[in-house]
Amino acid sequence: MSIEVYNLTVRYDNKIALENVNVKVEHPSLVVIMGPNGAGKTTFLKSLLGLIPYEGEIKIFGKDPKKARSLIGYLPQRDSINTNMPLKVKEVVLLPLVSKSFTIKKEHVEKAKKYLEFVGMLDRWNDRFDSLSGGQQQRVLFARALVTEPKVLILDEPFSATDVKTKMELVELLHRLKGEKTIFIVLHDINPLVECTDMVMLIQKTLLSFGTVSEVLTPENLEKLYGTKVPMIRRDNVCYIVGGDRHA
Ligand SMILES: Nc1ncnc2c1ncn2[C@@H]1O[C@H](COP(=O)(O)OP(=O)(O)OP(=O)(O)O)[C@@H](O)[C@H]1O
Ligand SMILES: [Mg+2]
Repeated sequence: MSIEVYNLTVRYDNKIALENVNVKVEHPSLVVIMGPNGAGKTTFLKSLLGLIPYEGEIKIFGKDPKKARSLIGYLPQRDSINTNMPLKVKEVVLLPLVSKSFTIKKEHVEKAKKYLEFVGMLDRWNDRFDSLSGGQQQRVLFARALVTEPKVLILDEPFSATDVKTKMELVELLHRLKGEKTIFIVLHDINPLVECTDMVMLIQKTLLSFGTVSEVLTPENLEKLYGTKVPMIRRDNVCYIVGGDRHA
């Protein structure tokens, strides 16, 4: 049971965005992906999801990405989502369940309610999605990623637009999910998840480093990643980044 990537290269209009990535992740694991803007992090996730053409080979529990799509829950990067969609909260969460059958069954509604409750948003069931705040929308999109009860979760900057309390609650949710799912999560600030991260991938057009937090998060690796010195503090043999690059 693993996710394997061999010689992954992705080009957009013949320009290389990601080159020769090789990685094997055992299930279940929590994998944090870090790298500067434009480094290819989202491109890597989209390859796992089978959303873009790629060279090389990807196997998700032995299956090609397109065939493994039903095993994966996805929370896309915030700036790629139309947050003005004229849908109700319940419709946003029900969509992945009904997209195959085209009918809403009682069990679909039960699952959607269960996961909206899980993220603390069940009381907004009948509200319009575009009437929610940014952080509330992130919670609903989290529920949407979870509603099919996937084995693999792909989260692209899930904490953007969240306040400290929401972020802490989402981190707590990840702690509860860890151990049963393989989670790939793109973060600019790994600090809230340092304690529950199994593996870290540093991406800058290629895979610069892959390993445990203490192996990968070193001042040398981060300087190579961001092309500048990154202030860090060390605690219990783990380096924490002070500041770091972020964007909403
Ligand atoms: N659809 C596309 N068409 C052309 N070029 C693209 C496309 N999507 C991404 N790129 C380019 O590929 C590179 C990697 O983009 P990607 O979105 O994977 O970066 P990222 O690491 O997720 O960055 P960010 O931190 O800003 O989200 C960038 O140079 C980007 O301009
Ligand atoms: Mg991105």
